[in-house]
Amino acid sequence: MKLEGDRVTLGVTGGIAAYKAAELVRLMVKADLRVRIIMTPNATRFVAPLTFQTLSLSQVRVDTFEPVSPDRVEHVALAQETDLLVVAPATANILAKMARGIADDLLSTFYLAYGGVTLVAPAMNTQMYLHPATQENLEILRKRGVVVLDPQEGELACGDYGPGRFPDPPYILERVVDLLYEKDLHGKTFLVTAGPTREYLDAVRFISNPSSGRMGFALAQEARRRGAKVYLVSGPTHLTPPWGVEYVPVTSAQEMFQRVLDLYSGADVVIKAAAVADFRPVPLVEDGAKFKKEGRRRLVVELEANPDILATLGEEKGHQLLVGFAAESRDLLENAQAKLARKNLDMIVANEITAGFASDTNRVVIVRRDGSIRHLPLMSKEAVAEVIIDEVAALLQAGKAR
Ligand code: C5P
Repeated sequence: MKLEGDRVTLGVTGGIAAYKAAELVRLMVKADLRVRIIMTPNATRFVAPLTFQTLSLSQVRVDTFEPVSPDRVEHVALAQETDLLVVAPATANILAKMARGIADDLLSTFYLAYGGVTLVAPAMNTQMYLHPATQENLEILRKRGVVVLDPQEGELACGDYGPGRFPDPPYILERVVDLLYEKDLHGKTFLVTAGPTREYLDAVRFISNPSSGRMGFALAQEARRRGAKVYLVSGPTHLTPPWGVEYVPVTSAQEMFQRVLDLYSGADVVIKAAAVADFRPVPLVEDGAKFKKEGRRRLVVELEANPDILATLGEEKGHQLLVGFAAESRDLLENAQAKLARKNLDMIVANEITAGFASDTNRVVIVRRDGSIRHLPLMSKEAVAEVIIDEVAALLQAGKAR
């Protein structure tokens, strides 16, 4: 994992959202981050330090004057061991202290001793958040380069309605990951397709397939984390688009074709992970109405070919690097190699249909235009995405995208 060993210090301050920070710690640990926690004394009135200690597997620091070990000046030593400071939830009080350089507890003292990349997630009552004092403090912090997450709008614990809610922990984690990732794809534009397409027979019925969209979404997320500008053109899925990608929802193959062609000339890399329907039905009824069965025992549906999007991109290829997917039921390698040649691709990612469809994991073979073949074991789609983007980055480096 890319984040293994990255060191985050999480400051938890005294608001009711402190209980949600426990979930954030869990997600950070799962993402292989090393998390150390500083709680303000007020935060410990909302959630016991033991909760955070158990989740982070390290001692929680609260008191400036109680050394973790006698040979360490804790706020200075910890500052040197921190790659990213996250203050979540951040109360109006800590934001004011950070903005003005007041150091009267361990967290605010640590902030001054640290001076590195910092993210804050303000969460408080709407009036407190909107107060000019708080807004001015946030402005000072932004100007100083601190990443300030906007609180969500909604119902607050105090019963008010408005901005002030703690953002969803998975979203905060994504922003944390973004700050820690190396941006080796900065300046590159990726076009990724994902999900199934739907080919309608009438107003409500369609032909489709069980593609979940997970592989394409994971690829889009990985490229974006590494600094690329990413367009994600996807058929209908149940997934939330990754933060920071330009999401382009589509339904049919023809619609996907159009949107992909629109974006093609501006793309450096195109990855076609969508399970595009090869055929669409000739509509059963005109003008988008619902088909009536009217006593029929048998119905013939005629299908006509959809455009092969990837093959068209291959024909019109300029400087772009083209990556296709091949889901095969037999002769995996032979079929993948033939497809790579036929569609004029630079790389193809092949899997058995039994391995990837509608699942969290995938077992793939990566075949490159130069003939090299890389077999990967069964892995999560996120891990597969990391390897594919590594391969793409290597090809870009080698200047193979003319
Ligand atoms: O030939 P086959 O459909 O198996 O090729 C799969 C690859 O081609 C995938 O990358 C898929 O996204 C792409 N494709 C396409 N347009 C189609 C059919 C497949 O772009 N109509």
